[in-house]
Amino acid sequence: MQAKSPKDSRTIVTDLVLPSETNPIGNMFGGELLARMDRAASIAARRHSRRIVVTASVNHVAFNKMIPLGSVVTVEAAVSRAFKTSMEVYMDVWIEDRESGIKSKANEAIYTFVAVNESGTPMEVPQLIPETDLEKARYEAALRRKQLSLVLAGKMKPHDATELKALFV
Ligand SMILES: CC(C)(COP(=O)(O)OP(=O)(O)OC[C@H]1O[C@@H](n2cnc3c(N)ncnc32)[C@H](O)[C@@H]1OP(=O)(O)O)[C@@H](O)C(=O)NCCC(=O)NCCS
Repeated sequence: MQAKSPKDSRTIVTDLVLPSETNPIGNMFGGELLARMDRAASIAARRHSRRIVVTASVNHVAFNKMIPLGSVVTVEAAVSRAFKTSMEVYMDVWIEDRESGIKSKANEAIYTFVAVNESGTPMEVPQLIPETDLEKARYEAALRRKQLSLVLAGKMKPHDATELKALFV
């Protein structure tokens, strides 16, 4: 399988925040943003693997900034590292100032997807070769995040999380 770069999977989804998608103080409901990110990330994982993909884990979400009603929200997703059958997808969320059009970063998130066949069996995916400094930094840290996610899910013993342990000892 030929290796791919993050730009092969880059997915940009832009949409408005409507009244039914807000909380009682008029800002975007967190679950709505999670769903938009899940859709954008799944397209990125599909573009990388060219397979059916399922969300295995939501590894990290930082709701740093409130997103008011009427905002134009852009979710930018790309695969940041591919393992055997799983892919980490890193997302940046931007909001656009109405008058200037300048985009500012509102949130970040990291999801893990697994490529599967029609029976739901995990399938191998192409490897990823990062190009820019940011892509390389995200790639490098992805193994630690995978181990943390597996430990939290009870699928890996903390003792076996060697990359993660190396941060502390
Ligand atoms: C995700 C799923 C396919 C994994 O199946 P599994 O039987 O655990 O398969 P494996 O143990 O072989 O894991 C497959 C890959 O997923 C990774 N993985 C599984 N759980 C993970 C987690 N919580 N965090 C990060 N990676 C995870 C494994 O490390 C492995 O990666 P690798 O092959 O790249 O090394 C399976 O749990 C599933 O179908 N879950 C439901 C998915 C779904 O319906 N999502 C939508 C929810 S509404």
